[in-house]
Amino acid sequence: MKSNSFFTFHYLLLLQLWGIFCIYQSPNFVVILTDDQDIALGGLFVTTPLCCPSRASILTGKYARNHHVRNNSISGNCNSKYWQNKHEDRTFITHFKKKGYSTFYAGKYLNQYGKNEVGGVKHIPPGWDKWVGLVGNSCYYNYTLSINGKKVEHGSDPQKDYLTNVILEHSLEFLSQQNESSPFFMFLSPPSPHAPFTPFSRFKSKFSNLSAPRTPNFGMNGGMRKHWLLRQTPKILPPSVIESIDDVFRNRWRTLLSVDEMVYEVYVNLKKRKLLENTYIFFTSDNGFHLGQFSLPWDKRQLYEFDVRVPLLVRGPAVEKGVEIKHPVLNIDLAPTFLELANISIPADVDGESFAPYLKKSKEKLSNRTSFIIEHQGESTNEPIPGCPQYMAGEVHTCEIDCICEDSWNNTYTCVRQLSDKENLISCTFKDREVEFCF
Ligand SMILES: *[C@@H]1O[C@H](CO)[C@@H](O)[C@H](O)[C@H]1NC(C)=O
Ligand SMILES: *[C@@H]1O[C@H](CO)[C@@H](O)[C@H](O)[C@H]1NC(C)=O
Ligand SMILES: *[C@@H]1O[C@H](CO)[C@@H](O)[C@H](O)[C@H]1NC(C)=O
Ligand SMILES: *[C@@H]1O[C@H](CO)[C@@H](O)[C@H](O)[C@H]1NC(C)=O
Ligand SMILES: *[C@@H]1O[C@H](CO)[C@@H](O)[C@H](O)[C@H]1NC(C)=O
Ligand SMILES: *[C@@H]1O[C@H](CO)[C@@H](O)[C@H](O)[C@H]1NC(C)=O
Ligand SMILES: *[C@@H]1O[C@H](CO)[C@@H](O)[C@H](O)[C@H]1NC(C)=O
Repeated sequence: MKSNSFFTFHYLLLLQLWGIFCIYQSPNFVVILTDDQDIALGGLFVTTPLCCPSRASILTGKYARNHHVRNNSISGNCNSKYWQNKHEDRTFITHFKKKGYSTFYAGKYLNQYGKNEVGGVKHIPPGWDKWVGLVGNSCYYNYTLSINGKKVEHGSDPQKDYLTNVILEHSLEFLSQQNESSPFFMFLSPPSPHAPFTPFSRFKSKFSNLSAPRTPNFGMNGGMRKHWLLRQTPKILPPSVIESIDDVFRNRWRTLLSVDEMVYEVYVNLKKRKLLENTYIFFTSDNGFHLGQFSLPWDKRQLYEFDVRVPLLVRGPAVEKGVEIKHPVLNIDLAPTFLELANISIPADVDGESFAPYLKKSKEKLSNRTSFIIEHQGESTNEPIPGCPQYMAGEVHTCEIDCICEDSWNNTYTCVRQLSDKENLISCTFKDREVEFCF
């Protein structure tokens, strides 16, 4: 994708490494998790292409089928009482806390975080000492935060309220309290580049000459072999929709300029405070995104690579400079990787596996994993879709533009992705058994 050149800047920044560094104390961690960022370079697979289930997989190291967070609703266990009682007190951060880490979270957590029926803003997930949790889903202005359990409202003054910048300010405050003798874990979760794609004022007119990448499947229906949800997209996308897609693309990149600043400020601050050499920095996203692929205007939720592959960049002590992991790495591998790097034992019921060994030595043999699961529980409502009488019965969802719908209860699937030196296949079963295919 064209987007590569844009990201080169922070790749270079993150991949300037230190060679072998003798770890004589527990390392620090900074994780930056963007929302809905599609692939930039190589990277990570997510095992479920939707925010809340993927975030729950990152926190637990488990497949959605095992943590049971199925969609972005409380009824689908997004921040539900079930999640809080059964899984949240065993996320990776609880083990860091037991080891004496100072811990900090800022930004979007799970989409239903802070809702009154699931504990409101007073609920602070176990393991986090300092908590700046966004109530609800990603947005840039006019939102509520839980600051250590206290409700704080933000309006829409760019100088005071732009969420990515507010997260950065809180993170710098947390860093100012850290020192070389005590380890910390800082998790930053900015809204960018999620809808409504609102750039910071200073970046509003950047990239105005760019358009969304015209991938080979751009603006074209996927054809007869696809599930009905993809067969009902237009044969050729109309120019007005393409114009909106280009506009969304530019605004997504503009929102990411604020993330670039965040990465830079955090990096410089760690360096200034002499904490950089003993700090791992991870940069990734919760799921991918498409813009016009198979004539789907913009969203995620599909089993294709545009929605399940995301960037993954790592730097830190003993990470070999420029090393590239050659086998697939999954969102469920992040938790066990953090734990192994901190020399904390990995709970036996984690589904993922640590990729720490492959960060340290590029010659290390590949993981023996040859397949993994990609799964999604389609979302919908029974409500008719305004302006789309053909969908009177409901059952479809996310019909943002021209009645092109991007999800449905029937878009519920389990795929087995086989990927190794020898195989490159995906086979999927949908809930409505309409298609089972292999390619
Ligand atoms: C935020 O809310 C104010 C007051 O309701 C409104 O005027 C403004 O347009 C909103 N801004 C955004 C970006 O939503
Ligand atoms: C370092 O930070 C830890 C945790 O905040 C604190 O307990 C300790 O006193 C600090 N040490 C120094 C030398 O400032
Ligand atoms: C967009 O404009 C910039 C600066 O004027 C220029 O460097 C770049 O090549 C242009 N890109 C395209 C795709 O036209
Ligand atoms: C890791 O933990 C084990 C068991 O607690 C301990 O024996 C070992 O010394 C630790 N290794 C490092 C590098 O700290
Ligand atoms: C991969 O190797 C590990 C031990 O190195 C083993 O526990 C695991 O079962 C193996 N997995 C597969 C799929 O062969
Ligand atoms: C989320 O999942 C639950 C449980 O399967 C279901 O009842 C609910 O309708 C789903 N929500 C949406 C928006 O599809
Ligand atoms: C979803 O699948 C069921 C069969 O399982 C079918 O009756 C229904 O019409 C499908 N919904 C749509 C919107 O096609």
